[in-house]
Formats: sequence, C-alpha cells, structure tokens
Amino acid sequence: MKEIRTIGVVGLGAMGAGIAQLAVEAGYEVVGREVTAGLGNAAADRIGHFLTRKVEKGQLGQSERDAAAARLSVTTELAALAGCDLVIEAIVEELGPKRALFAELGRTVAPDAILATNTSALSVTEIAAATDTPERVVGMHFFNPAPLMPLVEIVRAELSSDLAVDAAANVGERLGKEVVRCHDTPGFVVNRILIPLLNDCVRVLDEARVSPESLDTAMRNGAGWPMGPCTLVDLVGIDVHVHAAEALYEKLREPRMAPPPRLVAMKNAGLLGRKSGRGFYRYDG
Ligand SMILES: NC(=O)c1ccc[n+]([C@@H]2O[C@H](COP(=O)([O-])OP(=O)(O)OC[C@H]3O[C@@H](n4cnc5c(N)ncnc54)[C@H](O)[C@@H]3O)[C@@H](O)[C@H]2O)c1
Repeated sequence: MKEIRTIGVVGLGAMGAGIAQLAVEAGYEVVGREVTAGLGNAAADRIGHFLTRKVEKGQLGQSERDAAAARLSVTTELAALAGCDLVIEAIVEELGPKRALFAELGRTVAPDAILATNTSALSVTEIAAATDTPERVVGMHFFNPAPLMPLVEIVRAELSSDLAVDAAANVGERLGKEVVRCHDTPGFVVNRILIPLLNDCVRVLDEARVSPESLDTAMRNGAGWPMGPCTLVDLVGIDVHVHAAEALYEKLREPRMAPPPRLVAMKNAGLLGRKSGRGFYRYDG
C-alpha cells in the first residue's frame, strides 16, 4: 500500500478549504494551490479561523491547533505540488478546466502519486483520460461542509487501479470519514438519488399547492427526514443544485433529473439559498 504523507489540494474554495482543514487535522502535510496569492491566503485564514473555533469549543488543544495550521502551505504554483503523494482537485465544476489541470498534474507529480477529483457530477473516467496514467486517477467525493459531513464516496473510474482506490479509501478513513466505494456512474450514489428526489419535492410545491414550510413539515414528520427538502436545497445552494441537476439530465436524459423551472428561475433571480440570504426562506446576516 502506498504511504500517503503529503496531500496537495487544488482549489481552496468551499470544498477544497474544508478538505485541506481535515487533512492537516489528521496529520498530513498539505500544499494548497489557488489561482491567486490573495485567494490562497484568504483560504488559509479561514482554515486557521475554523481551527481556532474548535479550540474555543474545547474540541482541539491549542498546541494541536498550531501544529495543524503549520502543516498547511499555500501556493499559486502547480510545481509546488511535485512532492505530493496524493492530489485532491476541487476547482470549478467544468470538464475543460479539470481535464487541463489533470493533464498538467500528471506531468508534475511523481509517477506513483495518486490523483483524485472531488467532482460531484462529471465523469471521473473522462477526467482521468486527460492524463497519460488514468490508472492512478479516482474520485474522492466529499460533501459540503467537508469537515462536518461524515461521508466520502470513493469512485472507481473505468481504468482506476486497485492500489489507487485502496489508497484513497485509506485516506478517507484516516480523515475520519465513512467510506463508501462505488463505480463511476452519473451522480455516484447519493446525488443520483438525492437530486431527482429534491426536484420532485420542488415540483410537488406547485402541484399540491403547499408552502415550503408545509412541505418541510410534511417530510420531516411524515417521512422522518432530519431536515425538510426546501431547507436542504437552500443549504446546498440553488445554483449548485441546478448545475448538478443539469449535468445529470445531460448524461441520463431522465426528465426527473432536469431542474424544475421554479428552481432555475430562483437561480436566475439570485435567490441562491442560505449563502445569498434568500432562497425558499430568508436568512439574517
Ligand atoms: N459545494 C458543494 O456543495 C460541493 C459538494 C461536493 C463536491 N463539490 C465539487 O467540488 C468542486 C469545488 O466546488 P466548490 O463548491 O468548492 O467551488 P468554489 O467555487 O467554492 O471553489 C473553487 C475554487 O477553485 C479555485 N480554482 C479554479 N481553478 C483553479 C485552478 N486551476 N487551480 C487552483 N484553484 C483553482 C477558485 O479560485 C475557487 O476558489 C467542484 O467540482 C464541485 O462540484 C462541491
């Protein structure tokens, strides 16, 4: 089994910064790459802030916090990832930029390093095909927010080697996650089920003429959901959900996958959910 000591994280946005935080807390050296020094430093500050919050809540000792923060370095140079044993990509959800990045990563890291993508809805196999060594490419699909959501899906692409899949699964376990292994199918496991289900929930709003509050009450109390579907879509981000639904529809051509017009209109109006202050609900601050 390949030993992983240093992890590269490319893209330190919502997901990448969360993954980098998990990795430094688990004792890995982490090299984070962003497009500008400003974005990289801002992400390092956010990670430092979340680690401090854990100290304040009594979840982490001060010296452990400082040691974890010191294990993170940020860079704009891909070449700085040359010594990484595993690189996890978390850049924009577009095939072109991801394929360009993987082609470059393949030339940058050591031949036995493992390359992982955190894509939600793109084909890991298509991303892997941009490299000369697709056998070392896998999916590591974390959920948002990565430090809190317990699951990681480890995705085997068509040509992934057992060694790469096992190494990624071991890292997932060391990061404290529940690991579910699956094959490279659109939406993997959770989104393949959750996206059409949430689309149905939004369609029912109009068909049954119920309010978001009533729908959430119905699903929490009648189906035992811990959180109502409108609350969940607001939390995920209406733009993120619409984008993922469009990607699944493009691949599977099943009408239930297509985002309901009501959600597309909300996205176009800038009602993105919790992050924009308004979606199905209004949020203060
Ligand atoms: N947000 C979610 O709920 C969620 C959940 C699971 C997986 N994902 C997946 O994770 C990935 C990232 O999503 P996000 O929500 O963190 O996006 P985000 O927009 O918050 O972050 C993306 C970051 O990548 C940076 N970036 C873009 N190109 C880069 C490059 N070539 N090198 C380095 N940095 C680059 C951007 O500056 C940005 O900071 C996507 O593939 C997405 O589908 C997202």
